[in-house]
Amino acid sequence: MANENKRFSHATLEKNIGLLIVCSILVVAFAGLVQIVPLFFQHSTTTPAPGIKPYESLNLIGRDIYIREGCVGCHSQQVRMLQSEVQRYGPYSLAGESVYDHPFLWGSKRTGPDLARVGGRYSDEWHRLHLRNPRDLVKDSNMPSYPWLQHNSVEGDNVQERMKALRYIGVPYTDEQIAKAPEALVGKTEEDALIAYLQGLGVPGRDAAAEAVQRGGY
Ligand code: HEC
Repeated sequence: MANENKRFSHATLEKNIGLLIVCSILVVAFAGLVQIVPLFFQHSTTTPAPGIKPYESLNLIGRDIYIREGCVGCHSQQVRMLQSEVQRYGPYSLAGESVYDHPFLWGSKRTGPDLARVGGRYSDEWHRLHLRNPRDLVKDSNMPSYPWLQHNSVEGDNVQERMKALRYIGVPYTDEQIAKAPEALVGKTEEDALIAYLQGLGVPGRDAAAEAVQRGGY
């Protein structure tokens, strides 16, 4: 064999399953680093898109309810760069729209429609009825009902601690915003908070994203 005298040949690798596994892991890890690490420093993924601001306190609480209730298990929040998606949902999502999302909620399952641009598509009242019983509005919907949200108050939720935690990891909340945060929760229910969050989804970044679609780039 041509390779017999070489210290290391491909045949050696293929015949030693342990070595093959270790080397495969190394290759995949290196390739992953090369792909992922630059994204931490790339302008378009680290800078907020025009119009994107940290969540208002009520929306932030709503977002946590969205996470708690597992909405992300059935709904993605990412309009992909496909014509069919852009026609159905609106301008595709920009990375700069999720810089303040910790954790991001892009999701990977669409039992229901994508929600990245659902803000403003329906009235608050529609959402209220839909969350209480989706079947009242969409006859064959298999979305669960969330009737308890209307009865749970968010007043007194530890929103300031949540904002401080987010600030610690880089979300630029000001002291004033944190000081005023509890005011916005007075008299509000979990349903109000979730609806505020839904109504804000995809709205502030919409113009920037529409422009990107026009240009045909990111
Ligand atoms: C078991 C899967 C499932 C879960 C969990 C789920 N949904 Fe849905 N959702 C659906 C389906 C299916 C539809 C489409 C039918 C409908 O409108 O009811 C839908 C529709 C929607 C719509 C309307 C979207 C549009 O563009 O018409 C909104 C808003 C929504 N869901 C919000 C939520 C929220 C908020 C939660 C969590 C509290 C949630 N969903 C949990 C399956 C789910």
